This record gives sequence, structure tokens and C-alpha cells, in this order.
Amino acid sequence: MNPEGFLEVITGPMFAGKTTELIKRIERQIFAKRKAALFKPSIDNRYSEDHVVAHNGLKYEAFVIPNNEEGVKQIYDITKREGYEVIGIDEVQFFPMSIVEVLNKLADENIYVIASGLNLDFKGDPFEVTKELLVKADNIIYLTAVCTICGAPATRTQRLINGKPAPRNSPIILVGGSEAYEARCRKHHIVP
Ligand code: ADP
Ligand code: TMP
Ligand code: MG
Repeated sequence: MNPEGFLEVITGPMFAGKTTELIKRIERQIFAKRKAALFKPSIDNRYSEDHVVAHNGLKYEAFVIPNNEEGVKQIYDITKREGYEVIGIDEVQFFPMSIVEVLNKLADENIYVIASGLNLDFKGDPFEVTKELLVKADNIIYLTAVCTICGAPATRTQRLINGKPAPRNSPIILVGGSEAYEARCRKHHIVP
């Protein structure tokens, strides 16, 4: 019931409940009296500077870490220094590839690591960091949202610019919420 030395990945499109699931899992570990912490990249300032916040308002205090090589090193150093037994990382797709090795190493060193992030960008192409973590994971939690067009399970994220589907040459990184993104099924996901 209390995994250790374990790498778990929570993935799926936007609005699937990834952040909610991550907070729930961290909270359960705290109830189990294990020393646990959440990390999030500083790029994600959508709802709060010092909390992980879900689209439904659920929130949890977090270490805010720069989404660069220095930040990846900080995750390792803070975990070791504070003696965390369980760590959660939200928006893992925003970190550089080096996070894969670091999270894998922490799992090898008996930490229960839970990484949450997007599998696919708005074009339907993989985020390489998540992709690499998925193949190394001990457990995968794959979540779907609800398609805003037809109500079917949504596995894709539609980016909208002024209400219109964003073109393929739009930049990959664009932090946002429901003003710029919708959950969609395969049939209703459009990339002009
Ligand atoms: P994620 O981190 O995967 O984007 P969150 O945990 O932040 O997801 O938010 C999930 C919440 O988003 C749901 O509980 C629901 O309240 C809300 N939500 C908004 N739009 C949708 C949608 N199209 N499908 C499912 N949930 C949605
Ligand atoms: P969420 O999965 O918790 O909803 O957050 C996803 C974040 O990723 C949100 O800030 C929007 C951003 N994002 C991109 O930068 N590029 C993309 O292609 C997609 C789909 C999302
Ligand atoms: Mg989220």
C-alpha cells in the first residue's frame, strides 16, 4: 500500500484530472505518516505562485522550481536534504530531459516518485519528457477528460486562438487554461 522505490506517471490531456489525482495521492501518503512534498515548475503561474492548483480549485502547497537544469538539480537536492520519502512533480513536461534520469535515480534510491504531465501537445505530438518517463514507469495512470464537442472520452487537447483551432506552426509552450484550451476526442481534435 505504501510503495517505495517506485516511479509512477499520471498522464492524459488537459482537464483529465491529473493534478487532482496527484494531490490526492500525495495527501494519502501524508495520512500514512510519510514525509511527502510536491514540486511544480515556475513557468506554471496560472493560478498560484506557491501552490499546485487544479482546474476545479483544489490546491496544495508546493516547492516552485525553475524549469531548467538548475531546477532539476534542486528537486534532487531538496528531496535528499529534507529526507522526503514521497515526491510529486506536476507539469513534468515543462522540465528538461535530464529530469528523467534524476527521477529514475530517486526511485532507485527508494523514493516513491509520482510525476504528472501531458503526454501530447496541442498538435497531438508527444512531449518527449513524459514519453520517456512513461516507458520507465513502474505504474501508469492514464486519465481522460470529456470532449467539449460531443461528450465522448477526450484523449487530446485542442488549442484555440480567438476561438479558432491553432495552426501546426504555433509554439509548443503556451501556458493557459480554458481560455486557450479544450479537451477533445480524436474525432473533434483539429490541427489546421
Ligand atoms: P489536469 O491537471 O489534468 O488538467 P485538473 O485536475 O486540474 O486536470 O482538473 C480536472 C477538473 O477539470 C475536473 O474535475 C473538472 O472540474 C474540470 N473540467 C473542466 N473541463 C473539463 C472537461 N472537458 N472534462 C473533464 N473535466 C473538466
Ligand atoms: P494541465 O495539464 O494541468 O491542464 O496543464 C497543461 C499546461 O500545459 C497548461 O499551462 C497549458 C500548457 N500546454 C502547452 O504549453 N502546450 C500544449 O501544447 C498544451 C496542450 C498545453
Ligand atoms: Mg494539471
